[in-house]
Amino acid sequence: MIKPKHLLDTIDLSREEMLELFETIRMLKKADAQGAVPQLLKGATLAMIFEEPSTRTRVSFETAMTDLGGHALYLKPGEIHFGSHEAIQDTARILSSMCDGIMLRSKEHETVLKLAGHASVPVFNAMTYYNHPTQGICDFFTMSEHLPAGKKLEDLHVVFVGDSRQDTGIMSKETGHMCATLGLRYTVCSPTRYSMSEQEQAKIREKMVQTGGTLVVTDDVDAAVCDADFIVPDVWTYYGYESEEADRMAAFMPKYQLNMDMLNRAPTHCKALHCLPANREVEITSEVLDHPTRSLVFQEAENRLHTQRGLLAWYLYPRMKQANESLRQYNEGHMRAFLDAVL
Ligand code: CP
Repeated sequence: MIKPKHLLDTIDLSREEMLELFETIRMLKKADAQGAVPQLLKGATLAMIFEEPSTRTRVSFETAMTDLGGHALYLKPGEIHFGSHEAIQDTARILSSMCDGIMLRSKEHETVLKLAGHASVPVFNAMTYYNHPTQGICDFFTMSEHLPAGKKLEDLHVVFVGDSRQDTGIMSKETGHMCATLGLRYTVCSPTRYSMSEQEQAKIREKMVQTGGTLVVTDDVDAAVCDADFIVPDVWTYYGYESEEADRMAAFMPKYQLNMDMLNRAPTHCKALHCLPANREVEITSEVLDHPTRSLVFQEAENRLHTQRGLLAWYLYPRMKQANESLRQYNEGHMRAFLDAVL
């Protein structure tokens, strides 16, 4: 079967492809623990375009490329002509001719789709204000490592608490896409004004018809968390939405804050995730974030690196020209002879 070329939306992957990705991440994580990550991407280059700030995504992609024997170019706003002085399709074409993959973080989802539409190498969506596929894959890989006793991945009930509005609410949609692809039970819990759009619910439910997942949308926190296996919050106010901060605080605080009171209303095995960066004492308390047994937040953050290695290997390795050592040696001798003669 032909693998998808780009990683734009996790709902586009099949359950089998997602499980294959998890296995790739698991194998490379084990290799890392042995100090023996294979150089699968030797000589490869990843162009990383960041239109928005990043700590985890930037560091994990760059480190993962280095670990796999490749190289990453960090291209921050103003450093290349992307989107301002050069059409996106031209940048896509140029980078495709020089690099083996392109990673883009952009506020506008359309920008990532347009880039991918014109790129001949794989494009990784490193977060838009619509979704965050590399984070979603990391989160569910982390859950798969911490399954409640007696439960399999397909038995999980994942609960998102917070903003699920269409133009923000990034992790509410991403978590929904992952639950849809894996066929899981998903509850998204938000104040009514910040609820998931009908259009988004329809998209998730359409995929769930094929995979066996279920979606519940509610504003009732108790009903949502009472049998949750994992609770996923996200920030309440995004970059560019600061003017809404007071309204948002009034809508979410204190009912939708992930604190020990909320966690104690869930089963004792229920664990907290958070993609970070977190606003401590706002959408999540430090008591939960730093909890030694109920929080997976920092294991989740470390897994960004293991996940990026797996994603890069899965998407880029099959498309790379494999090194031909004897031809390389022949070319080296031939070129040296030529240059020694002419210089
Ligand atoms: N979770 C996440 O994407 O973190 P960064 O914004 O630091 O990359």
